[in-house]
Amino acid sequence: MPIDKTKIRKCLFPAAGYGTRFLPATKAIPKEMLPILTKPLLQYGVEEAREAGISTMAIVTGRGKRAIEDHFDRSYELEHQIDGTSKEILMKEIRDIVKNCTISYTRQVEMKGLGHAILTGQTLIGDEPFAVVLADDLCDNNGESILTQMVKLFETYQCSIVAVEEVPLEETNKYGVVAGEFIADDVMRVTHMVEKPESKDAPSNLAIIGRYILTPDIFDILKETKPGKGGEIQITDALLEQAKQGKVIAYKFKGKRFDCGSVEGFVQATNFFYTKNKG
Ligand code: G1P
Repeated sequence: MPIDKTKIRKCLFPAAGYGTRFLPATKAIPKEMLPILTKPLLQYGVEEAREAGISTMAIVTGRGKRAIEDHFDRSYELEHQIDGTSKEILMKEIRDIVKNCTISYTRQVEMKGLGHAILTGQTLIGDEPFAVVLADDLCDNNGESILTQMVKLFETYQCSIVAVEEVPLEETNKYGVVAGEFIADDVMRVTHMVEKPESKDAPSNLAIIGRYILTPDIFDILKETKPGKGGEIQITDALLEQAKQGKVIAYKFKGKRFDCGSVEGFVQATNFFYTKNKG
């Protein structure tokens, strides 16, 4: 059967980075496996993708990331031990993922940036639109998840989408920053985007957070994209090529996002989810 290219069926998780900001914790443990309460960051991301109707997960890993594959697999001995005990419930969500999702992996051999990581995932995605979740941006909402909101938006616009939020101007140098024209409430047609500009060069204070919908032509663009900020191949630069053709929208999502790539954001997320789960 031909692929329905109007639907998002796959989600890519770049997970090859070193997580140096969390050393020594990340010396032997992938940063994506650090838990907020009892659940690893990557599992939150996979659950968000599932909520958006996606069941095929494509994970770009690297050296030292084997714990990720073990997490998204059966663990017969452990499961045998806890079956029938009060602990069984703690494994319910991860067992459900393992049972109902297809999860595949490829390795990024050299760390050449987020754009390069996404290009490495082409072999798992193929020629169809897909979502990208950066697991260290942990999102929460009271209604639909951010990825669900974006998947719905894709049904209308059928082009690449970046999730954005307003940040203080002095923080633009931590993000991809977009500018353009609003074409609906919370939806902007992007005309300009820059990776991590200093505030004086930032075209706006709308920062990209780690949720994307990308159309597959991004792969050919990425193959031609020269190293940019930090000498890395940037997804922001590749998206700018699509934006020049009017094919990128930015979406001011409804919800909350924690930068769990920083210790401060990680602690805030921990406190937030602890209070939320208790209440
Ligand atoms: C990446 C992207 C950046 C984006 C950010 C969101 O940066 O390059 O454009 O704003 O993710 O978290 P990183 O945080 O990996 O340096």
